[in-house]
Amino acid sequence: MHGQHDGPHEDDSADAVSAQAKEFSRRLTAMGQSRLAAAAQATVGGLHALIAELRPSGDEFRLAIDFLTEVGHYADARRQEWVLFADVLGVSSLIEDQNNPRPAGATPNTVAGPFYRSDVPETPLGANISRDGKGEALDVAGRVLDLDGHGLGGATVEVWQANSEGRYENQEPDRQPEFNLRGRFRADAQGRFHFRTVKPKGYTLPADGPVGQLMSALGLGLERPAHIHFRVSAEGFETLTTHIFDQSDPAIGRDAIFGVKPELMAEFRALPPDGGKRKCALDLNLVLCPQRQGKTGTSGRR
Ligand code: BEZ
Ligand code: FE
Repeated sequence: MHGQHDGPHEDDSADAVSAQAKEFSRRLTAMGQSRLAAAAQATVGGLHALIAELRPSGDEFRLAIDFLTEVGHYADARRQEWVLFADVLGVSSLIEDQNNPRPAGATPNTVAGPFYRSDVPETPLGANISRDGKGEALDVAGRVLDLDGHGLGGATVEVWQANSEGRYENQEPDRQPEFNLRGRFRADAQGRFHFRTVKPKGYTLPADGPVGQLMSALGLGLERPAHIHFRVSAEGFETLTTHIFDQSDPAIGRDAIFGVKPELMAEFRALPPDGGKRKCALDLNLVLCPQRQGKTGTSGRR
């Protein structure tokens, strides 16, 4: 290719393999095949193609290194800025989709997110999971079904959500009661469950770190439309982890983590006011698919 064009870079098309990437690949191949080696090879090949396309200056390269360094500085046991970065790039949702595809008719899986807790005590059907009673009352009624529409009696339904200010209980342990807006229900013999709660508010992902600054520089938002999380398990079926979104939330078309799918949008229906107070209801079906070989239905990360 060299010498065919006048400009110093014109001979490198975006997808040309750099000499360095070729040599990296050759060295790896000499070490033998492994999944790690294949991943390293694909990553380096992709990075070099990107560099050939973008041609970053030295200063831009340093800025990128500074950004990644800052993401590392923000990550600790309480705040995972790397996961947030993966979330807003759509990477977390893509990996979830690839690992947990669901057949037509089954409820789609989504990421669980960072606020799930597995230690919630079992709550009786009909319980009110709003342990501080703050917010607009919401009655939720649903059924756990198989692909043929039969109820899955005894299925376990875990639920967690933000409060009417868009905050989860474990984000503000000093302001909300333990296990506020979390429940663990056992569906009845027909797969039915119901509980009382309050209408969740949407929220904004952390904007104060490097990922927030990047999104702001790109003119992109960090909003998540209002939703309730569910995790449903039943013997012989793949565990379903999903969100049900309020279809009337103005942010429904711009979820920062790309979790919204048409099947997961629902109406939080207004009911006649109860004692002068606003009230609403949500009815839903959660459809599980039979356990398939090698699939647990839950992602390894969270
Ligand atoms: C959530 O819905 O709780 C969530 C999911 C992914 C990233 C951040 C929050
Ligand atoms: Fe959430």
